[in-house]
Amino acid sequence: MELSMILYVLSCSLYSSTSETTDIPIIIANETVVNAKIGSNADMTVTIVTAVPPLKAVIWSRNGQTLFGSRYTDGNIKTPSLGINNITASDDGTYRCFVYNEVGSSYVDIFLFTWSKPTIRMSGNNIAGIGSTVHLEGLITSKPNIRNITWTRAYKNTSVAIDFTNGSKFGRSGTIFHPILTIINLQKADEGLYMCAASHDFSEGVGDIFVSIGVVPLVSREETDYQGTVGNDIQLNCSYDSNPQAMFLYWLKNGTRINLDLQREKYTKSNVSYPDLMINNIQLNDTGIYVCCVGNVIGVGCSAYIKLLIKVEGKCNDNRDSEHVYKTLSIYNAIYEYSGTTDARKSSHCYEDIDILNKDV
Ligand SMILES: *[C@@H]1O[C@H](CO)[C@@H](O)[C@H](O)[C@H]1NC(C)=O
Ligand SMILES: *[C@@H]1O[C@H](CO)[C@@H](O)[C@H](O)[C@H]1NC(C)=O
Ligand SMILES: *[C@@H]1O[C@H](CO)[C@@H](O)[C@H](O)[C@H]1NC(C)=O
Ligand SMILES: *[C@@H]1O[C@H](CO)[C@@H](O)[C@H](O)[C@H]1NC(C)=O
Ligand SMILES: *[C@@H]1O[C@H](CO)[C@@H](O)[C@H](O)[C@H]1NC(C)=O
Ligand SMILES: *[C@@H]1O[C@H](CO)[C@@H](O)[C@H](O)[C@H]1NC(C)=O
Ligand SMILES: *[C@@H]1O[C@H](CO)[C@@H](O)[C@H](O)[C@H]1NC(C)=O
Ligand SMILES: *[C@@H]1O[C@H](CO)[C@@H](O)[C@H](O)[C@H]1NC(C)=O
Ligand SMILES: *[C@@H]1O[C@H](CO)[C@@H](O)[C@H](O)[C@H]1NC(C)=O
Repeated sequence: MELSMILYVLSCSLYSSTSETTDIPIIIANETVVNAKIGSNADMTVTIVTAVPPLKAVIWSRNGQTLFGSRYTDGNIKTPSLGINNITASDDGTYRCFVYNEVGSSYVDIFLFTWSKPTIRMSGNNIAGIGSTVHLEGLITSKPNIRNITWTRAYKNTSVAIDFTNGSKFGRSGTIFHPILTIINLQKADEGLYMCAASHDFSEGVGDIFVSIGVVPLVSREETDYQGTVGNDIQLNCSYDSNPQAMFLYWLKNGTRINLDLQREKYTKSNVSYPDLMINNIQLNDTGIYVCCVGNVIGVGCSAYIKLLIKVEGKCNDNRDSEHVYKTLSIYNAIYEYSGTTDARKSSHCYEDIDILNKDV
């Protein structure tokens, strides 16, 4: 106490020769609270009210730590200020501008508050069947917390607020960080772009999601009839359109699902990315009616029948009996005409499944 008094007296005496009264400097903050967007630059400015004698130094600190480094830019002794580059949420705090002249010192505190534009990530079962219930969810990150959520729907070039008064179509639930819009009994008229706007005091963010009617996959096959040869490989082709996205795919043989996992050598794995079924080393008992089925969240769609007939090469044809060869070929070439001659029955081990198949055709 005494020491500062002495210093004070000493300082006064040093400046007593000037006409102006000397005193400790007086400064004020242009803004005592500065709100700055995360990622932008923040500026804190201080105005000198009086500084006689003039300031000798300006020192900026935060929580007692003097600030230095390339992120900070100082003003000068005439116009003290602090600039912070590329601010982050952790720059929040109380910044002190400390100034002194030869008489004494003073300071002013500025509170920096950082904020971010709300971001909203939308998700939900936005492709759904007629009559289903759709939940659209927003996942919000924001600083500070969101104060207000509004749901709207694009209509022509504008957006229209969703009317929750009639609870038979739209409902809202969830939390301020995780708002949920429910559309009940989805109809064609409900298709469109839905928006969730989240706002706080500084900014608003909007997320959107398109709602559409989904249908079961439309599965088609390129060929109805395949003819394979014992010992060869064959590829049964399948293609599909699916909205929403296909989730699984399987093949039926004679109405029974083929378990691909149990027959890895026989079938090349077929899935939503590779719908074709490759049958390796065909045998007579691969004869049958195949169907390709694809499922999405709406349901399962299947192709029409794909018929696979197998002929034997070599083994039967080695038999030089001309009639036998003829029968074999005739059955192969005229697949749907089963000839029940005794010779054909005799060689039935070569195409034993064909006649049964033909009954279904
Ligand atoms: C700070 O306030 C002073 C006095 O009102 C004004 O002259 C100056 O332009 C302001 N500076 C900034 C950066 O706003
Ligand atoms: C700003 O800061 C962020 C996070 O600290 C960093 O990822 C980004 O690259 C910086 N941007 C610039 C322009 O320095
Ligand atoms: C939320 O936003 C809507 C639409 O902008 C506005 O009508 C409503 O008053 C706001 N509610 C609050 C609590 O700010
Ligand atoms: C929608 O906006 C586009 C371009 O902004 C304009 O050409 C069009 O006429 C608008 N349609 C309606 C219905 O307002
Ligand atoms: C709510 O809307 C549905 C169809 O949009 C209508 O049939 C029903 O009468 C409405 N209910 C009320 C209470 O307005
Ligand atoms: C089946 O698909 C494969 C590969 O896409 C193609 O090479 C082949 O010609 C197709 N077969 C038929 C019968 O369409
Ligand atoms: C789909 O089948 C193909 C062809 O067999 C295979 O390469 C691919 O790994 C399979 N994908 C999945 C997800 O099983
Ligand atoms: C099909 O025939 C092959 C060869 O004759 C045989 O190894 C296999 O076990 C048969 N598969 C079935 C399901 O009968
Ligand atoms: C599949 O069906 C066809 C025609 O009905 C028949 O010839 C064949 O033996 C059947 N295959 C199997 C493995 O059941």
